[in-house]
Amino acid sequence: GAPVEADFSKLAPGQMMTVEWRGKPVWIIRRTPEMLASLKETDDKVSDPHSERPNQPDYAKNETRSIKPEYMVMVGICTHLGCSPADRFTTGTESGISPDWPGGFLCPCHGSTFDFAGRVYKNKPAPDNLVVPPYKFVGDTKIVIG
Ligand code: FES
Repeated sequence: GAPVEADFSKLAPGQMMTVEWRGKPVWIIRRTPEMLASLKETDDKVSDPHSERPNQPDYAKNETRSIKPEYMVMVGICTHLGCSPADRFTTGTESGISPDWPGGFLCPCHGSTFDFAGRVYKNKPAPDNLVVPPYKFVGDTKIVIG
């Protein structure tokens, strides 16, 4: 498949958008400072906190699983059986997950949950973190995926 360009200059903090790459949804989330801070809270609740499994390129194998911490880029397909978790993130109150859920993504099929870096929570059917596709910045708010 051809590389895909994504321009997210209009994305406000806390918003996300979806682009298609090789027939898959790729999510771009502009993370707020609160979302980034929540990754520290979820560190001990997720099963691969340091991204040791090969679900991201080396340059995204870091605390925020990204090139620029503000922008999360990941494939929106559950690593369990391939459903697409709701294409927006939820908070505890809306999701019914738990009132202290800092927010993230919920897969509707079997209930796997992922944090704002796409890291899967422990004791959920999905084995791995959501995949980070290969990408590079070609401008301040523009990337090429693939
Ligand atoms: Fe997502 Fe099963 S496909 S939890």
